[in-house]
Amino acid sequence: MLKKIIIGNWKMNPLTLKEAEKLFSGVAREVSRAKKTDIIICPPVVFLNKLAKIRTSKIKLGAQDAFPGDVGAFTGEVSGEMLYNLGARYVILGHSERRELGETNIIINKKIKNSIVAGLRPVLCVGENSRDGNHEYFNFVKNQIEECLAGISKNSISKIIVAYEPVWAISSTPDRKDATPHDSLEMAIFIRKILSDKFGKDSANMKILYGGSVSEKDAGEFLQDGGVDGLLAGRASLDASKFSHIVKICEISSN
Ligand code: PGA
Repeated sequence: MLKKIIIGNWKMNPLTLKEAEKLFSGVAREVSRAKKTDIIICPPVVFLNKLAKIRTSKIKLGAQDAFPGDVGAFTGEVSGEMLYNLGARYVILGHSERRELGETNIIINKKIKNSIVAGLRPVLCVGENSRDGNHEYFNFVKNQIEECLAGISKNSISKIIVAYEPVWAISSTPDRKDATPHDSLEMAIFIRKILSDKFGKDSANMKILYGGSVSEKDAGEFLQDGGVDGLLAGRASLDASKFSHIVKICEISSN
């Protein structure tokens, strides 16, 4: 069975390990019967090791960034290998909040390649900052995908998950707007076409997710009509019952 994917991006939350353990355990309890969903939680890196010790077969851990290198003189950085050793199996790369800090497609490309070598599955985030009447945003996303995936071998490509996250719909964007399942559907079709043009049949099993203020209220619509294989939730993942609710909706929509 092809499982759908629900990812929780905790961003820089919560403040303490105690809160992180409570949130993680709360989700683990509520999703203990999930069968059709790959559930991935990406906490701040400082909590990874402790959360990896909480027993659950249902949730895998991911990181929110990884430095392209293994060890060395890189002050403040954490490598993919280190994250793997802490228990991470996925890594979000190219999130708009990191691009905002200056991360370029070229840097993200290096991070993707290195993360694959480290044994992590990259979740590549792409998405336009705003939409224009001339539909230039399609070219913008195409360029992000082509530059971020340049030189990735056909053998590795199916390990990569692409998350379409229109920046204008993300909860932290001032004056954000709601994206619709139709916005997600047309971009998901477009992204599949880019991937297939570039990687041929090796891209057929690649998963595409939607992210941007996903909640338990609209998760069903996006999963049903958004043309995607799963969702990436930020704010909603900080509430155990809301996030678990999204997982349960995913389980039902996979019937
Ligand atoms: P949001 O975050 O669900 O809070 O909009 C999604 C993301 O930025 O990954």
